[in-house]
Amino acid sequence: MFFRILRWIGLTLLAALALLVTTSCTMLGLNYASLDTANKPASVPAIDIDRLMTPEGRAEALEMLEDTLYGPWPEGLPVVISDWRIVNPDYLEGRGTLEELDITIGRGEGARTFQLVAAFPAAAMSNPLVLSQTFSSNCATFPGETVTSEDGDPCTARDYGAVVSFIVETLFGEYIAEAPVGLYFDEGFVYASFHAGDFIPDSAQRAPAALAGLGADVNPTSTLMAWAFAFSAAMDVLENDPRVDTRHTSIMGHSRHGKAALLAAAWDQRVEAVIAHQSGFAGASLSRSGTGERLDRMAKSYPHWLSPEAQGYARNPSTLPYDQHMLLALVAPRRLFLGNARRDVWSDPNSSFRAAQAASAMWTAMGVPGISGEDMRTFDPTDGIVWWLRPGGHSIVDDDVLAFLEFLKVRPGPAAVQPGGSAAVLPIAETPR
Ligand code: GCU
Repeated sequence: MFFRILRWIGLTLLAALALLVTTSCTMLGLNYASLDTANKPASVPAIDIDRLMTPEGRAEALEMLEDTLYGPWPEGLPVVISDWRIVNPDYLEGRGTLEELDITIGRGEGARTFQLVAAFPAAAMSNPLVLSQTFSSNCATFPGETVTSEDGDPCTARDYGAVVSFIVETLFGEYIAEAPVGLYFDEGFVYASFHAGDFIPDSAQRAPAALAGLGADVNPTSTLMAWAFAFSAAMDVLENDPRVDTRHTSIMGHSRHGKAALLAAAWDQRVEAVIAHQSGFAGASLSRSGTGERLDRMAKSYPHWLSPEAQGYARNPSTLPYDQHMLLALVAPRRLFLGNARRDVWSDPNSSFRAAQAASAMWTAMGVPGISGEDMRTFDPTDGIVWWLRPGGHSIVDDDVLAFLEFLKVRPGPAAVQPGGSAAVLPIAETPR
C-alpha cells in the first residue's frame, strides 16, 4: 500500500513536471508549428550563389558568421590524444568493442580534456562513421558500461541515474541520452560520441573563462564554436584509425548540439553528412523570424553559446548581413538532414523550412538535388537537404532514429553487413574535402 501511494505521488509529480516543461519553460506543448510557408517572409538577404561557390566567397561568408554571432573558428588549437582503452571487448554481446580515449584541446594550464567513446563493429575495417555530440554524460549515453564518468572514475549505476534517466526519457524521448548503437551496427557504422559539456561547460558562468583559457593564439569566444571544433578534433583522432573510413563521416547533434554540428560542417569539409535535429535559433532557423524562441531570447538565456558581439545582432537581427540559409548553404553539396517536430514550435520549424528552401539553390548550382518537397510534410531521404517533420515535441524518439538511419544509409554507405557483423563499404561518389 505504502509503495502504491509513493508510486502515485511520483507519477503525479512527473506529470506536473512534464506539463510545466512542455507548456511553459520551452513553450512547446500546446501549440503546433504552422505548415504554411507561402504566407511568410522569404529568407533575406538573398545569397549570391555564384560568389559563395568561389573559395573567396566561401571565406567571406565564414568570416561574416565569425564576426557576428559565433566568434572565430579556433584554427590551429592544439589537439592531443591518448591511446584507446578497451572498455568492453564483448560489447553488445560480442557484436563489437567499446573503447575510449582522452582528447586534450588547448595549450598550457587551460587545456581541457574530455573522453571520446567509440563503438567499433567486430572486424571493422574502413567502416563509415557516425560521430555524435551529446547533452548527456558518456555514462548516460552508454548505460551499464564502465566508460569514464565526469568525476574521472568508471561510471557506476549512480552515474547514469535510473530515476533521472526515466524522467528525462519520458519528457525528451527514449534516445535523448542512450545511444541506440545496435541500430548503427546493423548498418555497419562505427558510432562515436562525446559529451560536449566535458570540453567546455554549458554554463554562462563557467564557459567564458574556459574558452579564454584554452591558450591558443585564437581562442573560440562562443561555446557553439568550441563545441563545433570538438567535432573536428574527434575527426582528427578517428582519421588515423584503420577501422574507420573518415571520408564517410556523418556528424550529428540535437538542439544546441545541432547548432554546433552545422557550424562544424561549415568549417570542416571532412564532414560528409550532417544531422541537425531540432537545431532552432542560431542553427537552421531564421534569425529574423519572430516565432518560437527568437534569437534575442536565446542570446539572453544562453549568452555563452554565442560570441559577446552577438548580443547586439540578437537584439536587432535585421542588422545581420546574412541569415541562417547561408549557414545551410555552406554545407552544400554534402548531405544535410534537418529534423523537426510539429509541436516543437520553440525551434521554429517553419522558418527552418524556408531557410532550407532558400539554401537549396546552392545544392542545385553544385549539381546535386537540394530539398525536393514543397510541403513541410514531405520526407525524402535521398534529397541533398532531407527535411523531417514528425508529430510530437522537442525530443529524440525511435522514429527520429529510424529517419536518421534512412538518411545515413543513402550516403555514406550503404554499408553491406557481412555475416558475423563486420561491414564492407560500398563505393560511393567522392565528395570534395
Ligand atoms: C533551449 C534553448 C534552445 C535549444 C534547446 C536545447 O530550449 O532555448 O535554443 O536548442 O534548449 O538545446 O535543447
